[in-house]
Parts: sequence; structure tokens; C-alpha cells
Amino acid sequence: MNQMQSIEEFTKRIKRILITEEEIKTAIAAAGKEIDKLYDGRPILLVSVLKGAFVFLADLCRAVSVPCEIGFMCAKSYYAGTTSSGVVQITMDLDQDVKDYHVVIVEDIIDTGRTLADVVKLLQGRTPLSLHVVTLLDKPSRRLVDFEADLSLFTIPDHFVIGYGLDCGEYYRNLPYIAEYAADGN
Ligand code: IMP
Ligand code: MG
Repeated sequence: MNQMQSIEEFTKRIKRILITEEEIKTAIAAAGKEIDKLYDGRPILLVSVLKGAFVFLADLCRAVSVPCEIGFMCAKSYYAGTTSSGVVQITMDLDQDVKDYHVVIVEDIIDTGRTLADVVKLLQGRTPLSLHVVTLLDKPSRRLVDFEADLSLFTIPDHFVIGYGLDCGEYYRNLPYIAEYAADGN
């Protein structure tokens, strides 16, 4: 990966803020309440598919009051053409055996839907007590496989976005807001 050459280059690719820090905070507080209502005191396992969802997971887990465990997994999907082949390679698996858990998958963004469709299929095969998907962002116009989250905090148009965990070339994950990325720097 090429390293960023200057702070000027870094900054000029942040085109405009799409979702502010405050808007994210408000939406997460509401999502936490919904999760509390859904599980009604039952313990849950919040699963983050790395790396993009780590910031969202960190804030969401502090917005829920039900007892919760945290799990991480790394997944890579391989595709031929535009349909999901269902081939997902787990480069780092969960510690927990999900059959004992109400699982909530916490995702940064659903784009084509292929990664999450595969991860859900894989985890469903391990027969959890229940499984729900929460996503911070949803780009429904880009969908290639039929997949919907149970809870989606923001629907966005077809822009490449950065910040709040989402990267471009591994940079920008630490921005506290979601911004549109300017590939040409303009
Ligand atoms: P999908 O399998 O096409 O739904 O892609 C899911 C993954 O692609 C996400 O978890 C992100 O890591 C990445 N991704 C998709 N769209 C964007 C974007 O606009 N910005 C940054 N990463 C993205
Ligand atoms: Mg990414």
C-alpha cells in the first residue's frame, strides 16, 4: 500500500461531511434502545466483522444495557462475476461457539451485500439461538445479492465514504464523522 505523501493530500480527499458526529451519536443511542427492547434482558454476543466496524461496535456496545459479550472475526470473500459464490474465507474466527448465543452482527456498511450474505450463511450454519444484523450504513442502490439488515442506521447514495471506521487505503478510519471521498482530490 502506498503511504500518504502529505497532510495536504490527506485533507483534500475529504470532500464533504455526509453524516456528522452528532447525527451518528443520536442514531446509535436509538439503536441501543431498540436492541435492549428486542432482547429484553437476554445476553447477546455483538460480533464485529473487522476492520471497518470496530468504531461502530465500540460506540454501540456502550449504548446497550443488556449483558453483552464482544466477538471479532475477519472475513474475505471471493467472487467470480457479479453473483455471490458463497465462498467466504475466515482469516480470523470468533472465540465463541455461537450456538449458545443470541448473535448480533455489527457491520459498518452494506454495499453489494456479498460479504455479509456469506458471513450470515456461515454463522447460521452454526445454529445460534438467534441472529440479527445491524449496519451503520446501507447503500441499497449497489446491491448485487438480496440482503437486508434487520436494523440500518443510515441509508446513503452511491458514494464512496470514509471515516468512523471506514477506510480508503487504510486511512481515514479515525475521522469522527462520515465523509464523501474525493478520488481526484477535488
Ligand atoms: P459488500 O460485500 O460489497 O457489501 O462490501 C462490504 C465491505 O466493503 C464493507 O464492510 C466495507 O469494508 C467495504 N466498503 C463498501 N463500501 C465502502 C465505502 O463506501 N467506503 C469504505 N468501505 C466500503
Ligand atoms: Mg474496508
